[in-house]
Amino acid sequence: MSSRPIGIFDSGVGGTSIFKEIEALLPNEHTIYLADSKNAPYGIKTKQEIIDLSIKNTQLLIEKNCKLIVVACNTATTNAIEILRNRFNIPFIGIEPAIKPAALHTQTKAIGILATKGTLSSQLFHETTNLYSNGLKVIEQEGEGIVSLIENGEAESDAMRSLLQIYLQPMLDANIDYLVLGCTHYPYLMPLLLELLPKHVKIIDSGLAVAKQLKLILEQQHLLNSKLTHSNHQFYINTRTDIIASLLGSQYKIEALDF
Ligand code: DGL
Repeated sequence: MSSRPIGIFDSGVGGTSIFKEIEALLPNEHTIYLADSKNAPYGIKTKQEIIDLSIKNTQLLIEKNCKLIVVACNTATTNAIEILRNRFNIPFIGIEPAIKPAALHTQTKAIGILATKGTLSSQLFHETTNLYSNGLKVIEQEGEGIVSLIENGEAESDAMRSLLQIYLQPMLDANIDYLVLGCTHYPYLMPLLLELLPKHVKIIDSGLAVAKQLKLILEQQHLLNSKLTHSNHQFYINTRTDIIASLLGSQYKIEALDF
């Protein structure tokens, strides 16, 4: 049993969508979240750059005494998690686009995947897609520009609506009935996606699955926090604090930190 915090990192504010799932499922756990917004978006960086940034974030979370690390970023997971696991002696939980449930349940035999360039071009993503896409039309779309708009507090702006209209059109033309959100920033697009997509298109992300996997690993490794104290959630961001505050609400401790 361990009352040490769970470390969570993302290229920015998007991983807060994962934090919310974790907090809801594991209310006893303490967490420390790193938002590396200074270096966002990760999705257009090289694999080596993504690895180096992921190592830097991990080192800081380990210095802060974390017992386990959640890589709350599809781009960092698909490009770097294997290297992190080999390098650091601590459990890691990652996140990947939820292709499997979409592929298993589609009726129209067409699914859409919206993700970053870094995720879509990764070997891990190709392997998973090949495994489940037999006989299906898979429309992959790079969400260029979306992360930067969200980091700027423009998740529901006209600029975002215009981008999404362009990105969703090929998927609608292919008659998708599932849209997979392959980036932890994208759950913040829900209001616009619900407005732009026909009602029968189901939108799925991996947030709850990550929280469940985290719970399982904490149980298996005897790392759950059994002390029923008030849980503590600390957020560090290396740019402005107002955007992450607006996504989280005012009850959390958010600190600017240069890392
Ligand atoms: N939240 C990250 C992800 O899940 C965004 C990556 C980026 O910064 O481009 O992929």
